[in-house]
Amino acid sequence: MLQRFGDGRDWFFEQRFGLFLHFGLYSIDGWHEQDQWRRAIPAADYVRRAERFNPTAYDPDAILDLAESVGMGYVCLTTKHHDGFCLWDTAQTDYNVMHTPYGKDIVKMLADACHRRGFRLGLYYSIADWHQPNYPNEGRHHELPGPKEGDAPDWGRYLAFLKAQVRELCTDYGEVSEFWWDMNVPEHRDPSVNAMLRALQPSLLINDRGFDDGDFGTPEREYKADAVKGSLAFARPTEACNSVGTQSWGFRRDEDYYTCRHLIESMDMILARGGNYLLNVGPDGSGAIPEEASRILTRIGAWYAKTREAFDGCEPASELTENRKVLLTRRDTTLYVHLAQPAASTAVVLNPIRERPQRAVLLNTGEAVETAVELVPALFQRKQPCLRLRNLPVEQHADETLVVRLDFETLPAEAGQTAGREFEG
Ligand code: GLC
Repeated sequence: MLQRFGDGRDWFFEQRFGLFLHFGLYSIDGWHEQDQWRRAIPAADYVRRAERFNPTAYDPDAILDLAESVGMGYVCLTTKHHDGFCLWDTAQTDYNVMHTPYGKDIVKMLADACHRRGFRLGLYYSIADWHQPNYPNEGRHHELPGPKEGDAPDWGRYLAFLKAQVRELCTDYGEVSEFWWDMNVPEHRDPSVNAMLRALQPSLLINDRGFDDGDFGTPEREYKADAVKGSLAFARPTEACNSVGTQSWGFRRDEDYYTCRHLIESMDMILARGGNYLLNVGPDGSGAIPEEASRILTRIGAWYAKTREAFDGCEPASELTENRKVLLTRRDTTLYVHLAQPAASTAVVLNPIRERPQRAVLLNTGEAVETAVELVPALFQRKQPCLRLRNLPVEQHADETLVVRLDFETLPAEAGQTAGREFEG
């Protein structure tokens, strides 16, 4: 069984698919969210982008319409990325959206739209900071090579600034459901920071990239874990994140987008193991979601609409079979078979399950699937028949992960355990 919190934070297990938004000054030029660092842009030049920040097409309701239409249940916005620019009306620095031609609180606009619609709000905050003068940029990873002119590195002061900022975020924007720390480069531990956030927001879930282990793990672009290792349930609550583009999380004009097939496979693999999937898009400098990113989300949403019953309220159950090319999830007496890798044949053998389901349906199309319980030549040494799904239309649907629903009379877990015992020795 998946671990549950048993309190207001359990929304996380009901809303398994979320939208990640990387949005900031870097969205204007559209190269990479770490433009300042990766292209060594002098700070004095980079900050001038604030003079051009005017995302008049930013429309939180349009963004949430899209998110909702593809089955997402929460959104997580970069309130401050590594560049230090703040998307809200913070009293701690002028390097924020109120001091741009746009002049409106982007976080508040999204928060208000979320609360109006009952959509869950998540806030991302980078600990590394390339602007705030007290942050000790020492040339470690994701840091500027050294202090800028006028900087006064002082970790204690920086922490005070950070705490004041996150306190604002967890006080002035209504209910916050997720807090998403990133880039604790100094690897500083201080559980009091999350404790403060929790006191302000009782149903807040906090990720593991902050000052303690938080509530959930955040593997990134790790969907290609090999099938054997990757098929079992995550040991702790997990939210894997990925972006629609291979190169950048922020808007990139010349992005190399993932294929939908690839993203669907990655999402299926994470959800079937009991994790959540946070899929990122970067609004462009005008604040709009790029057309190609919308198209990809819509395509994934079409697949999710057909298959999400294989995740909602389900438990990971891949241990019921020795077949490591598929993933299994289950709810009551229903088992879902996820063809987690591009199919090598038209059949799936679910050794050692020996029960024949009463019904088998391919969720992608609604069509019935042929099943048999029989001795399979390739497994003849087992001397036991096993469940085989055959004549699956894998060639016709090579562009998405297939999921088969199997309805059993008796619990497949019992079937599996019994068969497993018989195979021992
Ligand atoms: C990586 C990137 C960072 C991005 C984050 C999202 O840490 O370096 O720019 O915000 O992934 O998970």
